[in-house]
Amino acid sequence: MFDQFNRNITYLRISLTDRCNLRCSYCVPTEGVKLMHRTSILTCDEIVEVVKIGASLGITKIRLTGGEPLLRNDIIELTKRIKSTTGIKELGLTTNGTHLAKYAKQLKEAGLDRVNISLDTLNHEKFFNITKGKLLDTLAGIDAAIEANLMPVKINFVRIKTVNEVDELEVKTFCTNKGIQMRFIRQMNLETGEFYPVDGGDGGVCSLCNRLRLTADGTIKPCLHSNYGFNIRELGIEEAFFKALRMKPEKGTGSVAHQFYNIGG
Ligand code: 5AD
Ligand code: SF4
Repeated sequence: MFDQFNRNITYLRISLTDRCNLRCSYCVPTEGVKLMHRTSILTCDEIVEVVKIGASLGITKIRLTGGEPLLRNDIIELTKRIKSTTGIKELGLTTNGTHLAKYAKQLKEAGLDRVNISLDTLNHEKFFNITKGKLLDTLAGIDAAIEANLMPVKINFVRIKTVNEVDELEVKTFCTNKGIQMRFIRQMNLETGEFYPVDGGDGGVCSLCNRLRLTADGTIKPCLHSNYGFNIRELGIEEAFFKALRMKPEKGTGSVAHQFYNIGG
């Protein structure tokens, strides 16, 4: 499907939940999170239906995000059903890695192709200060992902001014030694429209943007930086896709409608 700027939309990013077990400083707003109602979170069947209709419209690539996508207890079934949908060629997952040791092998068997894992420091105390989580959990997740051949494993390193710039080299060396890739991400602010392309990523270059987003409560969004959203339960899936497609902006600007924790980066 083509938008009005002749961009071919082939990529859908799906936020499976707005819940997360971590509290990364750059992701969670200081005023706290406003969680979606449990009943508004899409079921496995609904998500698979969106993928089916998306695929019939030309979506070939899916990325699962959150919140933390591995908090969904139907993650293996979701992975299986999404990957086996006719037309879907590539399935990726973005995770904080804390639950990956448990799931990596099953995810691979279910058809997941690759993972991106957040890692902003190798210092235990600093990791806790940034995320409120345990570094060892994420490290175990990274090893499990490599072991399960969820390749290429990519590490997301968010540069937090004055906090972890000094950790870059150490994390880079760690990745090199493990034979995995690392991507530096500049901290963004959605409200002020402060955003950057991710080096080695395929987002952030508006003229080449090929993506739409589905939030955990079933809203299809044209852009990370758009206040527009079209709910599949209200409009039906196909109509929500077409409305989002029509509203896809030429360029991203600021958005007050959502935050990283509920749109998934
Ligand atoms: N700026 C840049 N990247 C962010 N992420 C989350 N919040 C931000 C932010 N404010 C990205 C991180 C994480 C992924 C899930 O989303 O790279 O790895
Ligand atoms: Fe959770 Fe990821 Fe946000 Fe960190 S960046 S709080 S791991 S959703």
